[in-house]
Amino acid sequence: MSATGIVSIMNENPALQLVIDETSVQPLSNDDFDPKKHIDFVPPTKVHNMSDLKLPEGTGVSAFAVSEPFQLFTEEAVARMRAEIFSKAVLENCRYSSNLAQCQLRGFAAKYAPFVYDVWKNPETLAIISKIAGVELVTEMDFEIAHINISVKSEKQKAEELEASVDKKMTEDDEGIAGCPWEDDKPIVDWHTDSYPFVCVTMLSDCRGMIGGETALRTGDGGIVKVRGPERGHAVVLQGRYIEHQALRALGTTERITMVTSFRPKSHTVKDDTVLTTVRPISNLSELYYQFSEYRLEILEERIREKLKALRETERSGRKMNTKDLKAFLHEQEMFLAHMNKEMVDDALVTKGSIDDSHLFSGFAKRSKRKRIE
Ligand SMILES: [Fe+2]
Repeated sequence: MSATGIVSIMNENPALQLVIDETSVQPLSNDDFDPKKHIDFVPPTKVHNMSDLKLPEGTGVSAFAVSEPFQLFTEEAVARMRAEIFSKAVLENCRYSSNLAQCQLRGFAAKYAPFVYDVWKNPETLAIISKIAGVELVTEMDFEIAHINISVKSEKQKAEELEASVDKKMTEDDEGIAGCPWEDDKPIVDWHTDSYPFVCVTMLSDCRGMIGGETALRTGDGGIVKVRGPERGHAVVLQGRYIEHQALRALGTTERITMVTSFRPKSHTVKDDTVLTTVRPISNLSELYYQFSEYRLEILEERIREKLKALRETERSGRKMNTKDLKAFLHEQEMFLAHMNKEMVDDALVTKGSIDDSHLFSGFAKRSKRKRIE
């Protein structure tokens, strides 16, 4: 997208252009990310475990399910992140549209947003998220650092929506967790699981006066638990790969910008169920496949190195080969590679901007098909 890209955003959505203009005039410092200055962490008042949601033991990679919203960033950090997100380079080069969302910004952090990148790569940030999640985490891939969902309405639209909501039940909508985007005008995404094991959703807008915006989670006995949406500078962590969820539509705000960063377990000994279902059509496919292959092959490299060392030690110590154990290892790695190969759909078969509904029905929670919301 060239300079005309900015013009086209303005034509499509004057309210969004207003947000971009306001963000760009804020006087900001340009010092590096410093956790002492930019993180203001207050632990969540409560975290819900898988057992709280009545999900079977062993669901997911840790017992943790979802946190209540918690304070994570200072106002200065939020302003700095907003300024980078709404920079010309990001808007011109990293904007994606799909059948589910008109405007998302993706894959920009490593190239154009050093502050945002450092926020999510910093050991202190990772320690906070890992502690909440109950397992040591790293960012899923650079491409999935700070996926941005943008919903901006005019005051008139806001008022009309509020009025309409009085007469009818609030329509449910997706929350825009990476790869499961939302678009307020077209509620499409039903109950789903995410592509990535964990997400941290950070609110970058002022949500005072907002109605709705909670995340609804399906419990193991078919019930629903709701977690309220975060305020500006606050975040929610969710093990979204394993829990069916959807977000309830948010009304009463003109601007709702969320930043979604995805995580996976750091250890090569922990399973990695990452899929790319929801993200292939809204990604630079070459970058996505490279980063997915890189970390998956690194996991395999570690596993093989460890197994080889153990085999050599067995031989040197004169012990007998454990064929059963080795065959189990080989089978596990065959599955690991087959999974990877399946996720890397041939480039020619990926339609840009077109997300099918294969993510809507979880392979983990084998429940009957549910109707899409139209
Ligand atoms: Fe989601």
